[in-house]
Amino acid sequence: MGIKIIGTGSYVPEKILTNHDLEKMVDTTDEWIKTRTGILERRIASDKQCASDLALIAVRNALEMAGTDASEIDLIIVATISGDKIIPSTACVLQKKLGAGKAVCFDIQAACTGFLYAIELANAMILSGRKYKKVVIVGVEKLSFLTDWRDRNTCVLFGDGAGAIVLEKREHSKDIGGILASKLASNGNYAEVLHILAGGSEMPITRKVLDERLNFIRMEGQEVFKLAVNAMAKVCKDVIAEVGISVEDIRWLVPHQANMRIIRAVGTRIGIPDERVYVNVDKYGNTSAASVGIALDEIVRKGLVKRGDYILLTAFGSGLTWGANLLRW
Ligand code: UT7
Repeated sequence: MGIKIIGTGSYVPEKILTNHDLEKMVDTTDEWIKTRTGILERRIASDKQCASDLALIAVRNALEMAGTDASEIDLIIVATISGDKIIPSTACVLQKKLGAGKAVCFDIQAACTGFLYAIELANAMILSGRKYKKVVIVGVEKLSFLTDWRDRNTCVLFGDGAGAIVLEKREHSKDIGGILASKLASNGNYAEVLHILAGGSEMPITRKVLDERLNFIRMEGQEVFKLAVNAMAKVCKDVIAEVGISVEDIRWLVPHQANMRIIRAVGTRIGIPDERVYVNVDKYGNTSAASVGIALDEIVRKGLVKRGDYILLTAFGSGLTWGANLLRW
């Protein structure tokens, strides 16, 4: 028994916000953003688009590649911090929009690591032997509504988008690739380095909260930077060791796209050269739970992966949460 990824899909909104656009909004420069983050531009959803709309397009693309009808899906997991509403889950809204009538649907929240958490969760649910055979995972974010557009420390970093995969249970092992190993981790002691103070039960939205702009993402960038590099490098090495392959066997490292300098540092620490590390942070910025799914879809659609290739996913985000999944295509 095993699991195959039979489809990938992604969607980013049409509207492009460049570094030069941001120069007109806050005290920043294209040069600062480029050299400190590697980001050139990001996509911003329209006022009419909510998270489930972005997810819908990504999932439809993935289902088309998989040759699967929405009615065949047993499980939909949406990883997001920017869902449509508090209730119902964005997964249930997506179920309706897709027409995925028989799917069990729920959201998970592990910030930028959400897509990787969802992969591990789906893997466990499929292998439990229960009824889950065809599973959709989508990481989606409309971060533009959680971004403080007056805060230059954060507003230059984030973007909107969605990335999806379709997984299928295979009863026979002859063509098994799939999910070889996952390592997830969390550390709530660092919650304050990357958080949104208000909008939950601890600090509901009030006039005062809005005036003080407490309903937006706040981050201690340098602290997160250091923790992210160490944590991702370690879990990547752990899953490579667990599967018993060598670093040279990895065709692609697909890291969370938060910052080019973080991406390069993680690649170097693991020993994977730049040409085998996939980067699109220049085009989309940090799309949190969507980022790894979008990158994975791009390498597939560009024909950069072939059957049997090892692909290493890694991410790091608020919580703190981090992890790695080692896939075989
Ligand atoms: O997705 C979850 C994971 N998130 C991440 O991985 C993000 C991790 N952190 C980072 O990517 C980086 O820390 C940042 C890109 C956020 C910041 O880069 P940095 O090299 O760590 O810069 P810094 O925060 O140390 O700031 C350096 C200077 C400061 O000025 P002073 O105090 O040295 O005078 C900032 O005020 O740069 C200033 N600065 C800016 N200047 C122009 C901060 N933001 C900007 C800006 N434009 N947008």
